[in-house]
Amino acid sequence: MKNVGFIGWRGMVGSVLMQRMIEERDFDAIRPVFFSTSQHGQPAPTFTGQQGTLQDAYDIDALTALDIIITCQGGDYTNDIYPKLRASGWQGYWIDAASSLRMNEDSVIILDPVNHDVIHDALDRGIKTFAGGNCTVSLMLMSLGGLFANDLVDWVSVATYQAASGGGARHMRELLTQMGMLHNSVAKELQNPASAILDIERKVTELGRSGTLPTDNFGVPLAGSLIPWIDKALDNGQSKEEWKGQAETNKILATKEIIPVDGLCVRVGALRCHSQAFTIKLKKDVEIPEIEQILASHNDWVKVVPNDRELSMRELTPAAVTGTLSTPVGRLRKLNMGPQYLSAFTVGDQLLWGAAEPLRRMLKFVL
Ligand code: HSE
Repeated sequence: MKNVGFIGWRGMVGSVLMQRMIEERDFDAIRPVFFSTSQHGQPAPTFTGQQGTLQDAYDIDALTALDIIITCQGGDYTNDIYPKLRASGWQGYWIDAASSLRMNEDSVIILDPVNHDVIHDALDRGIKTFAGGNCTVSLMLMSLGGLFANDLVDWVSVATYQAASGGGARHMRELLTQMGMLHNSVAKELQNPASAILDIERKVTELGRSGTLPTDNFGVPLAGSLIPWIDKALDNGQSKEEWKGQAETNKILATKEIIPVDGLCVRVGALRCHSQAFTIKLKKDVEIPEIEQILASHNDWVKVVPNDRELSMRELTPAAVTGTLSTPVGRLRKLNMGPQYLSAFTVGDQLLWGAAEPLRRMLKFVL
């Protein structure tokens, strides 16, 4: 059995990864070694029924003893440790949730229902470094993969509705705390059906602007609002999150000619599902029933939701999709711009297919 080291397994993405690995009995096939950046020497988790000790995540000798490393610790850890490990001559597989190594020439972005061939070709070529993709990009490709696989996409324009979890655990707490404070400020008035809604709104708006809501993580209130910027600013006016759309999509698909992907990334008050509204320019006019069939048959997780009001409201929402591996796509229709212009709306859990799931599946390919 291979020795597999886990770093960052206790964080939010790491916890989802552990939960999925337990559900799928992935631990049966490996000898896991759990690491910690701060608590080495303390008891390790007993997911496998065995009791061990947490190893030091900065101990290069302990890391080089591993066949495979899976890290959800984040980019700073990767930037610090990965070069040292490779410089030491370590030849193991590095499977990473962070973005640091994604665009390196000698690494592959993993999303096997979409780029199985790219991954296996890389393994044949001796590639040993694999990174999970940006959640928004991965979720788009899980839902729209059929259009790309059939070479139907001329370009994609997107507006995202990204959940708080994309920022991290603290961001989720901050959003919920803001929501609670806003509600508390008008709870009494809400109980009285005769109270004036604009007075209630004014109180909530004033509290939002007062500077008293906690905003250490988002920088501004998200509850009752939205934030039309995610990640750093680039020189060309894009946010880094927007830049990833084209860069990562084309790398995942190993396209020969770049497919333009661009749009606006927006944070909204959802908890852990990213939604995306697309305008897709198709290379040719394809009828909607054929598009639905192409999309639905691409992988086991995509689900086409008919463009129906009730079904869209019930099945195509973060509330419906959270905690599932389903990556539904709906609102499919031709736009007024012409028969080659398709609209689509997708939803996906950014902690599952957007983060943890591709990592545990990659592990299976290298055992
Ligand atoms: N960058 C994404 C977000 C999450 O902020 O929503 C991870 O890919």
